Amino acid sequence: MLCSAAVFPTKRPRRLRRSPALRALVRETTLHPGDFILPLFFNEALDAPRPVGTMPGVSQLPVSAAAAQARLCKELGIGGTILFGLPRTKDASGTSAYDPDGPVPRAVKAMKEAVPELLVITDVCVDEYTDHGHCGLLRQDASGAVDVDNDATLEVLARAAVVHARAGADVVAPSDMMDGRVAAIRRALDAESLTGTAILSYAVKYASGFYGPFREAADCAPKFGDRAGYQMDPGNAREGLREAALDEEEGADMLMVKPALAYLDVIARVREVTTLPLGAYNVSGEYAMIKAAAERGMIDEKRAVLELLTSIRRAGADFILTYHALDAARWLG
Ligand code: PBG
Repeated sequence: MLCSAAVFPTKRPRRLRRSPALRALVRETTLHPGDFILPLFFNEALDAPRPVGTMPGVSQLPVSAAAAQARLCKELGIGGTILFGLPRTKDASGTSAYDPDGPVPRAVKAMKEAVPELLVITDVCVDEYTDHGHCGLLRQDASGAVDVDNDATLEVLARAAVVHARAGADVVAPSDMMDGRVAAIRRALDAESLTGTAILSYAVKYASGFYGPFREAADCAPKFGDRAGYQMDPGNAREGLREAALDEEEGADMLMVKPALAYLDVIARVREVTTLPLGAYNVSGEYAMIKAAAERGMIDEKRAVLELLTSIRRAGADFILTYHALDAARWLG
């Protein structure tokens, strides 16, 4: 006998890969347009879209484009949007972050008016609104060194969240990484009877080299120093579990890990320790890499994007904030 029964494979995983129907039946992770949240940048000073050079296919938008974007998201069955604002004026303490006539509140209103059922999330941070570009207000410590003032920043974040919620945002998403911001925002929302507004916390956010293109899109690169004093060190995973647990205790309704691709292990670990819905942010640098490689014919963009988005879901994310949202939704039909 050429092959004895003992060595001949009787267990053959390939049996289930023989046809598209079988593969579809046993597929563990699937993608749907409803899994995607589309980030949008509204610039108060624009009358027409302004392409972001480092993010092909992404533009800063005038507020007047908000309603059309909402209709597009609905048409494609996108899960929701997250809005960022570029205000006309910036100052040291980010006061335009809580201007009720700022680009984000105005865009929220327009989108909700056009498509009331569309999920609208707002990014809550001060870096787009401060002239120094840091995610918090600054102060000099006893030694004279300039530092981000955690507790003074909470006040501004809370005011911005209330303004966004009053404009109609379903969810507010603090991305600043200050300690205690989830509790401060929850308290402020509840004090204004905005008890139905949910908080999606950027709970586990790393000081990442993959945010470069975003800083052009949102015009928020720090003018000096970096964000390592408040965003997490890329070497740390246990610390991410602690951040997630603290935000859950403080009242976060959903958690997020950011970036996604270099942190799939962190997504998987956070997934195991929380029952809250978990999102992941497929950030600007991750998007730019794919676009650059695809433009040069080095990879098949559609295949690569759908594979990466699947990997983020497989790691344990329930939903994905991604600039690929519109394309991916179209590809999924
Ligand atoms: C801060 C914020 C950033 C991103 C989302 N919110 C930039 C940063 O922390 O420097 C990055 C998103 C991306 O790179 O796509 N408001």
